[in-house]
Amino acid sequence: MSETAGDHEDAQDQEFHRMNFHTRKWVRPEDLNANGTLFGGSLLRWIDDEAVVYAMIQLGNQRIVTKYISEINFRASAVQGDIIEIGLQATHFGRTSLTMRCEVRNIITEQIILSISKIVFVGLDEHGMPKEHGYKEVTFERDRFPEGLRRGLRRIT
Ligand SMILES: CC(C)(COP(=O)(O)OP(=O)(O)OC[C@H]1O[C@@H](n2cnc3c(N)ncnc32)[C@H](O)[C@@H]1OP(=O)(O)O)[C@@H](O)C(=O)NCCC(=O)NCCS
Repeated sequence: MSETAGDHEDAQDQEFHRMNFHTRKWVRPEDLNANGTLFGGSLLRWIDDEAVVYAMIQLGNQRIVTKYISEINFRASAVQGDIIEIGLQATHFGRTSLTMRCEVRNIITEQIILSISKIVFVGLDEHGMPKEHGYKEVTFERDRFPEGLRRGLRRIT
């Protein structure tokens, strides 16, 4: 049976829903470059911040370092007052690492600002060495929350 436009849209829709968009940022004057558009450095910092927290929750470890970031393709930009959202999707659980992909969208223009196909985080032990995490799948709960961060954690219902 041949694929219809509807099938293609359904597949895209499913793919879209697998990516979690948690963080939204409002582009402020201090986030602009000399061209008056969103400064790439600000955006990369926001992505790293979001992704490292995601990795902490997924790997149950607060000692997480960024190991590898693949090619970054800046496809469109944003201007002051735009709102962007950062999407992450875990793509591979290794022995000590977690690989994810990232997509950033401009909510106002509905354009994709950038995509990164591979960001690798490694969980470390107390000696700074890669630590086996034992996980193979994404958790949607806070059941792996690192013990060291758990004090004061309140249940959000
Ligand atoms: C993270 C670090 C301890 C890893 O050391 P290492 O000797 O590369 O350790 P390993 O070879 O055991 O690799 C650890 C994991 O990283 C993965 N990895 C290593 N090099 C990689 C690369 N170039 N691309 C993708 N993944 C890579 C390995 O596959 C392994 O994953 P797995 O255990 O899930 O299979 C070390 O490279 C380091 O401290 N780097 C600096 C991190 C940092 O400062 N980041 C920036 C600030 S957060």
